Amino acid sequence: MSERTPMIEMCNVSKHFGSVIALSDISVQVHSGEVMCLLGDNGAGKSTLIKTLSGVHRPTHGEIRLNGEPARFKSPAYALDAGIATVFQDLAMIPLMSITRNFFMGREPTVGWGPLKRIDWKLADRIAKQEMGKIGIDVRDPSQPVGTLSGGERQCVAIARAVYFGAKVLILDEPTSALGVKQASVVLRYIAKARADGLAVIFITHNVHHAYPVADAFILLKRGGSLGTFRKEDITREEVLNMMAGGAELESLDAELAEFQRSDTERADADTSGVRPRLAAGQ
Ligand SMILES: Nc1ncnc2c1ncn2[C@@H]1O[C@H](COP(=O)(O)OP(=O)(O)OP(=O)(O)O)[C@@H](O)[C@H]1O
Ligand SMILES: [Mg+2]
Repeated sequence: MSERTPMIEMCNVSKHFGSVIALSDISVQVHSGEVMCLLGDNGAGKSTLIKTLSGVHRPTHGEIRLNGEPARFKSPAYALDAGIATVFQDLAMIPLMSITRNFFMGREPTVGWGPLKRIDWKLADRIAKQEMGKIGIDVRDPSQPVGTLSGGERQCVAIARAVYFGAKVLILDEPTSALGVKQASVVLRYIAKARADGLAVIFITHNVHHAYPVADAFILLKRGGSLGTFRKEDITREEVLNMMAGGAELESLDAELAEFQRSDTERADADTSGVRPRLAAGQ
């Protein structure tokens, strides 16, 4: 069987900020039509990894390859032009600007030419409405501010934009962390759709219930290093949970809470045995 070329690949990448080693010798491959979930505690280097992939940072050592070719991005704009779209949780949208504006972000279709060239708002609105419709979000008026959409819908505008403009790689930094169950499922469904459309997706989350259903593989970072890449078929949901930020802590927290509960029950038992007779006496 011939090995497929990964759509995006990090080869022995390190990133230093002065004396801080934010990433150390990371190698990871993501193929098109695949979702790689990036796990790790706070400060593990997840954001640094995706910023290095998306042209915000340059690797100190190592190489990034896009479709087998070495890639050096001077800025995120270059990475975007090469087909790497990144959705940052807070910077994804400009709330006061319209849905259409946020969708196109300066790449609106135009009519006319020379000094008469202007944005074709009718066409732009129609495309924005149609692309959002494709993912099941019915936008009545695409000229309404994006701030009027729910958090999940806003994330979807950012993802729809990436897909529409032909991204090959979609990188998402905690797109579901601030969302309720229903909205998170809208975003997750869309991630699954991007995967089915053949994009290579890299997805950061702290929530195993979000990670497990959509991921094909997991990479775990700890203090800038990789603890390994795991295919989904080789790892259970419980194992992922334990690897995730605070998995071990959650277990010991469970034990502590059980201990509290036991002493609470004992106290309640002691109280009720002393209270009842007094109540009975007052009646
Ligand atoms: N621009 C920078 N200059 C100096 N140090 C940095 C810079 N960016 C990140 N770091 C350091 O690199 C380490 C990894 O940070 P990073 O933001 O990648 O973590 P993270 O895994 O995304 O954490 P979180 O889950 O909290 O978002 C941290 O110790 C951080 O302080
Ligand atoms: Mg981060």
